[in-house]
Amino acid sequence: MNNLDQLVISATADFAAATEPAKLEDAKARYLGKEGSLTALLKGLGKLPAEERKSTGAAINIAKERIESALTTRRDALKSAQLEAQLATEALDVTLPGRGLPRGSIHPVTISLDRIEQLFRSIGFDVADGPEIETDWHNFTALNTPENHPARSMHDTFYLQGADGKVQDDVLLRTHTSPVQIRSMLAHTQRFQHLETMPELRVICPGRVYRVDSDATHSPMFHQVEGLWIGESVSFADLKGVVADFLRRFFESDDLKVRFRPSFFPFTEPSAEIDVAFMGGELEGRWLEIAGCGMVHPNVLRFGGFDPEKYTGFAFGMGPDRLTMLRYGINDLRLFFEGDLRFLTQFH
Ligand code: FA5
Ligand code: MG
Repeated sequence: MNNLDQLVISATADFAAATEPAKLEDAKARYLGKEGSLTALLKGLGKLPAEERKSTGAAINIAKERIESALTTRRDALKSAQLEAQLATEALDVTLPGRGLPRGSIHPVTISLDRIEQLFRSIGFDVADGPEIETDWHNFTALNTPENHPARSMHDTFYLQGADGKVQDDVLLRTHTSPVQIRSMLAHTQRFQHLETMPELRVICPGRVYRVDSDATHSPMFHQVEGLWIGESVSFADLKGVVADFLRRFFESDDLKVRFRPSFFPFTEPSAEIDVAFMGGELEGRWLEIAGCGMVHPNVLRFGGFDPEKYTGFAFGMGPDRLTMLRYGINDLRLFFEGDLRFLTQFH
């Protein structure tokens, strides 16, 4: 056995003795590194007589390749040993069920609003919306609400402060969706003013409204759905029919009593509150107010651009939060707005 064979054997043995990658790299340096024994042999070639140089060089290169291949084999072996060890310690049960993404659910009031829109669309109503920051004119004046009406007081309504810190009494957070009546009427009458008789206006407007109010059935932010139907011969009987039919379809029940209780709103005449009572169930016999309504006041029609001599209409403003409470048997309105997932995930 010549020196080169011995070198290959001792390198292979050193590599085998290296039990971790760093030690293997040290062993490699002893043979193939700058100061390595094989590198020294290669460097020594220059001093050999020319006739020996070629054959010795070829032999050294063969030895070098054998050492390199022994190194690669050992590297691979160490790598798979490391992987095995890692797999053994970090045992992974691939049969476990995945964590998954929690599925969201739709807010109960949104479910109601979607149903309300769908039911009114089915009888030819459009869906409109209006700004939550509303002008005093749209929210009160054009709705025939006098200067001294209590709803205009600072205690009942959220007014806004300008950059100068002063209350701006010409804008406020809308206290009801009724200003959208004015906006819808004006858009309609401007669009069709060239016609001798305008087409009917049939619209609902769902949205958020704000009042200085807070208890189990009143929240400072709540929802309303405004309804408005104006035409040449719209009557209180139409109002009763539309609302009663809507409520039966909304609650999917004929065991429902609907009552129109005389009331007052500046923007309707005559006016009523709509109450419902269920026959059967926990709420049996209890009347609950769910909306205000009435025939649109002539002054309001005029503000909207309609001739009250020719057109009549009805309007209502209902509370979808209350409708949702009744539909699901929820007794505290505040649950809707506290964002507690234990409550919210119960609705689909
Ligand atoms: C109004 O807001 C009138 N704009 C309704 C109206 C429209 C009358 C068109 C005539 C014509 P009221 O303040 O009663 O009326 O509110 C209407 C409904 O909103 C109530 O029946 C109730 O269901 C709901 N509501 C009122 N205040 C609150 C509150 N703080 N929290 C939750 N729901 C409320
Ligand atoms: Mg009321």
